[in-house]
Amino acid sequence: MNKKFLDLGNQPLANKYLRAYKKLTLKSNELYRLTVGFDNKTKLVSLINKIPDKKMFDGNYPYKSSMSKTMINSFKKLSIKIKKRFKPKLFFEIGSNDGALIKNFNISEVVCVEPCANLAKITNKKGYYTYNNYWNLSLAKKIKKNFGRADVIYSANTLTHINDLDDVFKSITHMLNKEGVLIIEDPSLLECFKKVSYDQFYNEHIYIFSALSVKKLINKFELELFDIEKLETHGGSLRYYIKWRQNKKIKIKNSVSKQLSSEVKFGLDSFKTYKKFGNSVKKSKNDLLKLLKTIKKKNQKIIGYGATAKASTVLNYCNIGNDMIDYFVDTTPDKKNRYMPGKNIKIKKYEKKLLNNVDYVYLGAWNFIKEIFKKEKKFIQKGGKFITHVPTPRII
Ligand code: TYD
Repeated sequence: MNKKFLDLGNQPLANKYLRAYKKLTLKSNELYRLTVGFDNKTKLVSLINKIPDKKMFDGNYPYKSSMSKTMINSFKKLSIKIKKRFKPKLFFEIGSNDGALIKNFNISEVVCVEPCANLAKITNKKGYYTYNNYWNLSLAKKIKKNFGRADVIYSANTLTHINDLDDVFKSITHMLNKEGVLIIEDPSLLECFKKVSYDQFYNEHIYIFSALSVKKLINKFELELFDIEKLETHGGSLRYYIKWRQNKKIKIKNSVSKQLSSEVKFGLDSFKTYKKFGNSVKKSKNDLLKLLKTIKKKNQKIIGYGATAKASTVLNYCNIGNDMIDYFVDTTPDKKNRYMPGKNIKIKKYEKKLLNNVDYVYLGAWNFIKEIFKKEKKFIQKGGKFITHVPTPRII
């Protein structure tokens, strides 16, 4: 049973950046109640109200993996590792986005699937065979028929966006070679709790995985974890390496039991911890509002940096509008001149000069703090300050 521990209020679709501001309503299905629950049996954390995928992933999906140096480097490093460690003849990616990872592989070695038409078009154009479909069993059957089983199946920040996880893994096992490896990476629930980064929850993130929940989930499909890596991406992610249980050639690394025991030690197997997190989130909201209001009382200017889906959760949960944040800057072309979902805050195409005469910058993309600080040395030298709510609302 999915027991509620977090209520983030009425939220718009996080990646829908409107061309003009308008007040969204629940009645017209533009806002959705965002509540999150924990199932003690499966150890899974998931949204209680789920939204049909077709409403979220369509021909205009704005998020592009290649938008930051951090992600480009992370994918490059991973591709080298995969080639060296697993030597795949057929590499299959679920949710290939704009091809940030596959561009490091030869065209002949790769097949991928991407439901957003605008993104699939990019990789198909580059010659990478991309199915513009949602991942499911009938598609897996088709791909296996055309290309055979894959040696490595990889998926980052995608499986947690799909409601029917049983179908997801059934489809994966249909396509995975008997000696093949499945690698998935997603934000880590443990990191999310430690950082009180409740903005990891938005309508697309149906699940936030922990090693505890992944272990239980894949067990049903004769799969098991053999390695786990900690990553800095997306505010703290885990990369899970998974193999068929019957494959004894691959040894299970200590990293698996280490992660599982640190999750148990933190209390991720017990509802008490989830209730406590719910209370920390309420406190985070109050403290952030207090901080922003104090700055505004002094008539100082605050802008947002990184028009992220995460920021959409924060703005709508805390009810932060253009009375507090003047505008957001973002490098993504598709977000230019749009509005933050549900809020009358405009997104401007990033230019350094947009930080002139700004006193505070709220980090919508706090997960890229290192990259942003490096880029904005001048702003910092001139006395400009950053604000983040992670792990507690504060000025940096
Ligand atoms: P991300 O944190 O990955 O997003 P989400 O919460 O939406 O999943 O997105 C980072 C956003 O920040 C993306 O829109 C690009 C933007 N960005 C900048 O504008 N400048 C930067 O220097 C960086 C690193 C990111």
